[in-house]
Amino acid sequence: MKTPVLELQEVHKHYREAGETRPVLRGTSLSMQVGEFVALLGRSGAGKSTLLNVIGGLDVADQGTVLVEGKALHTLTDDQRTDLRARRMGFVFQSFNLIPTLTAAENVALPLVLGGETLQEATNQANEMLARVGLSGRGTSAPDRLSGGEQQRVAIARALIHRPVLVLADEPTGNLDY
Ligand SMILES: Nc1ncnc2c1ncn2[C@@H]1O[C@H](COP(=O)(O)OP(=O)(O)OP(=O)(O)O)[C@@H](O)[C@H]1O
Ligand SMILES: [Mg+2]
Repeated sequence: MKTPVLELQEVHKHYREAGETRPVLRGTSLSMQVGEFVALLGRSGAGKSTLLNVIGGLDVADQGTVLVEGKALHTLTDDQRTDLRARRMGFVFQSFNLIPTLTAAENVALPLVLGGETLQEATNQANEMLARVGLSGRGTSAPDRLSGGEQQRVAIARALIHRPVLVLADEPTGNLDY
């Protein structure tokens, strides 16, 4: 069998706040192969964003193992985790996290530029990707000039542009009408 693109083994995560312990993930396990599509359902506060943050290496599990393409995240250095996320993952945040001082096209181009692509080529590809999400002609707009759904589509374009093996999307259609 092929190495899963993502594997979680008995992952635990709790938050501590004002002396109280709040368990969020209690022994979560799952395995995903390349090409698989998994939808995670749960009430508000159930821990969906927490789980995605732990998978993306943005937050650290207390216990258990997260493997991305067979690599255990806790065995990597911060730099290696950042590099793995930048090259292999696309992240659509629940709150978009667009960079306000960059245009829509610059936001989408960012993963390519960070990967060493020239600004010109990255911007061309970003504008093509924006057209694919129905935003042709809006590349020069700042994020605060876009509607919620438009910002969400910019965030989706940014998550896909470098063809990641793993796309983590946190409620990516909450503001969309299709
Ligand atoms: N940094 C933190 N410190 C303390 N508690 C936190 C922290 N982050 C999240 N929590 C708590 O962990 C629980 C899970 O939060 P999480 O954001 O993962 O939920 P969710 O399933 O994504 O909810 P929603 O559907 O509302 O987005 C919540 O009760 C939340 O209050
Ligand atoms: Mg959430």
